[in-house]
Amino acid sequence: MTSDVTVNIRDQTPALEHQSFLVYRRFLHLKLATLLIGVATVAYVMHAPMGGPSGSTWLGYTLGTIAALIIVWLTWFGWRKRSYGTARIPLAGWLSAHVYFGLSLVFLATLHTGFQLGWNVHTLSYALMILVIASGLFGVFAYARYPRLITANRLGASQIQMLGQIASIDGEIRQAILGMNDAVVKLVAPATESDAIGGSVWRQLSARYLDCPTAAALRGIQAAARGLSQDQQIATRKILILLTRKAELLHRARRDIQYKGLMQIWLYVHVPMTFALLAALATHIIAVFFYW
Ligand code: HEM
Ligand code: HEM
Repeated sequence: MTSDVTVNIRDQTPALEHQSFLVYRRFLHLKLATLLIGVATVAYVMHAPMGGPSGSTWLGYTLGTIAALIIVWLTWFGWRKRSYGTARIPLAGWLSAHVYFGLSLVFLATLHTGFQLGWNVHTLSYALMILVIASGLFGVFAYARYPRLITANRLGASQIQMLGQIASIDGEIRQAILGMNDAVVKLVAPATESDAIGGSVWRQLSARYLDCPTAAALRGIQAAARGLSQDQQIATRKILILLTRKAELLHRARRDIQYKGLMQIWLYVHVPMTFALLAALATHIIAVFFYW
């Protein structure tokens, strides 16, 4: 299991305390970004360069420069947000600008290219930009959706408490199988020895554990109890109740890990792809000046 599972979700998502960042100052940044897109679109429609619109016309250069400056500015956000608290402008304001101007890039960069995309280094920067923007969109969705689900799923317990409860149920199950016949012990003991929880990134994010020993024990326990004495049947019922409680706790603990994982995973695309984008963009700009 990963050690970061105990980290308070609020620590990782300052944006959560500002769910209002999308409506910050009555959509100020949405309005500004829309204005920018509007001006760029009007200029693009009115502009009739010889040879058709492309990145190498004066408008192409202007839009490309604006888009590149916005990208550098958005990257700066990463450093900027680390000085949260000392800021004159609250974090919500920066995030709102980041999101709306980030989205405006889809329009600005596309108009810059004059809709001329191809299999080349120029289009690589375009594709990386789209990847960064798409991951950012998922981030906004994740920040809006998962905090509520995490709180509802935890039922007031922390993750450490859930794991503690699972460990104490394991102890009770171990007690309950003492004196049971071999078939029951063989079936139930593995459920107390390993908890199918955590593991690979895929398992954490999918929260699917088809090899869960607790689920296997639950499935087999009733069949194994057939033909047992009445005392043993009563003991088996107790084991069944304990296994059911454990399965429910495991389900909640896995969901907790899944939700927290989904709230972070997109940053593993957003941030590295930002740096790949900056490198591709620098190559694009150098290439166009080199061949000018
Ligand atoms: C300072 C900023 C920029 C400058 C000076 C610039 C310059 C240019 C020029 C001169 C062209 C025309 C190349 C040609 O016709 O062969 C071009 C095309 C293009 N640019 Fe930019 N650009 C800039 C920013 C950007 C940005 C931010 C993106 C997207 C992330 C981008 C993506 C493209 C694409 C996809 C093309 C079309 C390539 C093709 O024709 O296949 N550029 N750019
Ligand atoms: C090309 C455009 C973009 C670039 C270069 C960019 C870059 C960045 C960088 C470097 C960070 C800091 C991450 C960190 O260090 O934790 C960040 C954060 C963030 N980005 Fe973007 N971004 C872009 C577009 C977008 C878009 C379009 C959205 C949403 C629709 C978005 C949503 C976010 C969010 C929500 C965060 C805050 C993460 C946090 O505080 O935990 N980004 N972005």
